[in-house]
Amino acid sequence: MRIGVIGTGHVGLVTSVTLAEVGHAVTGADVDTEKISALNDRRAPFYEPGMEELLHRGIAEKTLVFSPDVKDAIAGMEVVFICVGTPPGAGGEANLIAVERAATDVARAATGRLVVAEKSTVPTGTASKVRRILVRDRPDLESDLEVVANPEFLREGQAIEDARYPTRILVGADSEWALDCMRKLYGPFVERGADLIETDIATAELAKHACNAFLALKISFANALARLSERAGADVTAVADVMGTDPRIGRAFLDAGLGYGGSCFHKDLMAFERLAARLGYEFPLLHEVARINDEAVAAAVEKISEALWNVQGKRVALFGLAFKPRTDDTRFAPALALARRLFDRGAQVVGYDPMASANAKAEVAELDIAPDPYEAASGAHCIVLCTEWDEFRGLDFDRLRGAMASPVVVDGRNFLDEQRVKDAGFSYYPTGRRPLP
Ligand code: UGA
Repeated sequence: MRIGVIGTGHVGLVTSVTLAEVGHAVTGADVDTEKISALNDRRAPFYEPGMEELLHRGIAEKTLVFSPDVKDAIAGMEVVFICVGTPPGAGGEANLIAVERAATDVARAATGRLVVAEKSTVPTGTASKVRRILVRDRPDLESDLEVVANPEFLREGQAIEDARYPTRILVGADSEWALDCMRKLYGPFVERGADLIETDIATAELAKHACNAFLALKISFANALARLSERAGADVTAVADVMGTDPRIGRAFLDAGLGYGGSCFHKDLMAFERLAARLGYEFPLLHEVARINDEAVAAAVEKISEALWNVQGKRVALFGLAFKPRTDDTRFAPALALARRLFDRGAQVVGYDPMASANAKAEVAELDIAPDPYEAASGAHCIVLCTEWDEFRGLDFDRLRGAMASPVVVDGRNFLDEQRVKDAGFSYYPTGRRPLP
């Protein structure tokens, strides 16, 4: 099928390369001309495992092209995906200017029957607004232009695998022919075992926000339990394990630590809360989820202060700057929130990350960046494990200790082997439990 994708960010690009891989003819468009020329040179603008390979393959097999002209991704297409950004506006609501612009572009360039698939995370009601623009601007194509909601469930760092072998694909449609078109589009993925869930549009839009809000809620629940476990002398990981044995609860997303980061949970939670308020329903639970998430970073600052007595003038080494492992993304990374709070208290902060250092430096200019963990530890009074990169499991703690001004490790993800760290002579501060005696 002929597919257009408007927006080549994380979602748009992963969508483009994976649809091209199954044989659809995909044209991706973006207003960022530099990004488009890099993509046509087969260079991805961000790191995502498996991305470059599919980009190369799609371009070589000519199933994938990129254009700076949005018309190329609309005219003559059967499905056009809207994958533009929906950043938070001043009050936390989703800013939908780019979605509106994309809808206007589609109306201007549509040449015939076309399904517009909304993939960006948007508040319920957005699809009907997109449709209103299409009908307003193209009354001649009123019965040929349909909008469907097709939210994504990709996880950064494994987005390509999630998109190639999805467990579920959600399509919200109010029109049978548009739904048929999406069934055909996703046929190859259903053959690979994906469950195609078909709902009305409002349900699909709401379900996406509900999923992300609920995942964030689970994490904040675990972090609240961490605060409580520290006070009660319990072990939050063991508490989560017990909870996880109940299949009604499930173990996933109950890992306490520095809290969630990334571009989705913060933004979606705020937007969901604003949407609820706009619809006349107060949903303060969502606000509380965000508050507990902030508290997780504040608790780490307190722990560091307790370990170092005075933070002012001390050097703190942050291990891991990305918001989670296997990505170079630092948007809303807890490590950077922690760095900012430590700077406020007069600390010097140095960071090391296998992949995200450049992005971290671009966000927090005063952060020192080290080329490896041992340089980061040099002269430091404390190491804080912020992101659970695999390589941190193999650290030589004797060597780290030898380089440091004082041997303190705060494990913000309960990731390190406590006994090994202690055997090397460190004071070890876990999250959500007391250190071993
Ligand atoms: C999230 C969702 O998991 C995806 O399903 C969704 O499609 C995506 O947002 C989106 O809306 O685009 P992502 O932001 O890539 O995906 O990252 P997650 O793997 O969900 O992790 C989010 C954050 O939660 C990370 O900072 C991670 O360290 C933290 N986390 C996760 C915890 O602190 N504890 C846990 O138990 C799990």
